[in-house]
Parts: sequence; C-alpha cells; structure tokens
Amino acid sequence: MVKGAASPQRDVVSFVRRSARMNPSQQRAWRDHRMPYLLDIPRGPMSTSVAPQEPLDWPEVFGRTAPLIVEIGAGNGDSLVATAEAHPDTDIIGFEVFEPSIASTLGKLAAQRLTNARIVLADGVQGLRWLVRPDSLDAVHAFFPDPWHKSRHHKRRLISPEVCALFADRLRPGGLLRVATDWEDYALAMREVLDASPLTNEFSRWAPRFEERPMTKYEVRGIAAGRTVYDLCYRR
Ligand SMILES: C[S@@+](CC[C@H](N)C(=O)[O-])C[C@H]1O[C@@H](n2cnc3c(N)ncnc32)[C@H](O)[C@@H]1O
Repeated sequence: MVKGAASPQRDVVSFVRRSARMNPSQQRAWRDHRMPYLLDIPRGPMSTSVAPQEPLDWPEVFGRTAPLIVEIGAGNGDSLVATAEAHPDTDIIGFEVFEPSIASTLGKLAAQRLTNARIVLADGVQGLRWLVRPDSLDAVHAFFPDPWHKSRHHKRRLISPEVCALFADRLRPGGLLRVATDWEDYALAMREVLDASPLTNEFSRWAPRFEERPMTKYEVRGIAAGRTVYDLCYRR
C-alpha cells in the first residue's frame, strides 16, 4: 500500500477555489515560467487534489540533495521568494491553489533566476500527505492562513489537530513549524492545537516576529486595522 493511504482523507479544505482573470504580467509569467517552477503532479478527483502516490523524489526534482522547506498557502510568493533568496543552499516547495497568485510567484522566481524553489498548484495538506516523505522537512511555513471567522467554518482552519500531526510526521526531528496570523482568536486556537500536538513550543508563548518573513498585504492590513500579529514557532 502507498504510505499514507491509511491516513484519513480530509474532505473539508482550508480554501475556496476561486477563479479570477490574470493581469497581463501574470499572464506573461504563466506563459513563460511554468517551466521549470510549476510542478505537474498526478491529480486526484479535484483540480486541487493530489492522487495517492509514492512521495516525490525531491533531490531529483531539484537536482541536488539539500534541506527542504514547505510553505502552505504561499499567496503571491513574497515569503517563498525571500526564503529562496536568503537560503540558496535550501530547497523550497510552495503549495498554493489560486492561479493568479501562482503566476505572480512564477514571475518573481524567474526575475531573481532562482533555482531552489518550486510551486505546486494543490491543496498543501494533500501535497504534504502524498508528495513528502516522513521525517524529511527542515521547516513548514504557513503565514496568514485564512482565518475562517464563523464558528461553523472553524473546521476549515488549516491549523487543526489532524494537520499538525501531519506536520509533525513530515518534519525531521528538530525541524520547525512557523505560523503567523493577525487574528487573535485564531492565534489562540492555533496555540491550543499546537500545544496538544507532538510539537514543542520554541518560546514560552508567542514567538518573536520571524525576521525573514517579508510584510505581505495581509500583515500590513492587519496592523493598519489595529490588530496584533502573532507568530508561533514549534519544533519537532
Ligand atoms: C490569506 S492568504 C495569505 C497568503 C500569504 N501566505 C501571505 O502571507 O501573503 C492565504 C493563502 O493560502 C491559500 N491556501 C489556503 N489553504 C490552502 C491549502 N490548503 N493549500 C494551498 N494553499 C492554500 C489561499 O489560496 C491564499 O492564497
């Protein structure tokens, strides 16, 4: 049996599939830079799902063996690109489901001629489950995941006990999970879930702001609205 096949499939996803027109520069990036950055993977029944399969051979994808970081919900790629630039000796895999955002990321990666990052158009939870080996990641990043405010939508929040167990399984011993949000109730809920997970808080409560994380529009918007930004950092 393919490893992971016995793990429960999560039918509630942390995103809504939206379609939107790409602007001209996104269209150009989509046309010109999907190769080599956007990985084609076997799909499940939905356009964002990942077919049960053996994990990808990431050293083969990147052409080298290097530490690996996964970012879930990479948005326009600002953090992904900054991490790839700051750590040329590390390889970064970004999962995102919104095509115009992926196109923006492709444009930034190509502009910097980065060779150590790839994007997968897929649910990052399924991506972790099916494409990434246990004990293999140096870090998992999830910055400003959708807050899903209404109580009836809390089940859609990315940071859930099931997904944190998956993070713990895919991180190598000593690997780090970094998350950030500008929504206090979600931050508190994340901390509760993470404190009950197999991961250990690196700081007693909140982590200092992760300096490598560039300010994205979500952080700027949260601060402009008077909200506090909460970082959390947990170690396997
Ligand atoms: C609020 S935005 C934050 C984007 C980015 N991290 C930033 O800080 O600018 C959340 C992003 O996560 C993506 N997303 C949500 N759930 C996801 C999942 N399970 N897999 C991949 N992308 C996801 C959404 O499409 C959206 O682009």
